[in-house]
Amino acid sequence: MPKLTYIGHDAFLLEHDATRIVFDPFLSGNPLITTNPDELKVDYVLLTHGHGDHLGDGITIAQNNNATVVAPFELTTYCASQGCKVHPMHIGGAFHFPFGRVKLTIAHHGSGADLGGDALAYMGNPCGFLVTLDGKTVYHAGDTGIFLDMKLIGEMDEIDIALLPIGDNFTMGIDDAVKAAEFLQAKLTIPMHYNTFEVIEVDPLEFQKKISAIGLSSRVLEFGESLEF
Ligand code: NI
Ligand code: MN
Repeated sequence: MPKLTYIGHDAFLLEHDATRIVFDPFLSGNPLITTNPDELKVDYVLLTHGHGDHLGDGITIAQNNNATVVAPFELTTYCASQGCKVHPMHIGGAFHFPFGRVKLTIAHHGSGADLGGDALAYMGNPCGFLVTLDGKTVYHAGDTGIFLDMKLIGEMDEIDIALLPIGDNFTMGIDDAVKAAEFLQAKLTIPMHYNTFEVIEVDPLEFQKKISAIGLSSRVLEFGESLEF
């Protein structure tokens, strides 16, 4: 049975059998969490885009573990230049890894990385991930505004868990995320990307209430909290 653990912000650990996959491991830069990137043991690092709160400690973690970075081509090209093992993909494409299937979805957002130069480094387009393992599908939306194609994603893949940003300002806010959940029709929706910074402060319980009002299930996870599904 796959297990999902909320590390914080958009960082989640997905485990099944001996495989450990981390999404967007923004750890050392996040003042709210205590997970030490040096202690994270993973086989795969899935990165939705190049912004600092997603790329985060991804390169260090991938290097430490000899883990494979899975991300859009431009971002994996940068990670490979830093010595990481990579598997480049792009939007609409799926690949069967030994642990299961990964498909990249669109995300309406940016992906420039602040590497300390005068300008942001180009990292291509941002993405979301559909990960299917042990017959279960998790959709990590990444940073995105709402888009009508979420209806298509929900139609073509039966989603067990949808991880949706709700913090507003940079991504969907609560009301748009509720509509997105309605499009996706996941068995369970978990909010992310809120309260890490002042501009994305929202009440996840308001999201939960509004999700219940449309007859869907949601769960607000504490940092470090896990669920099996
Ligand atoms: Ni972003
Ligand atoms: Mn973000």
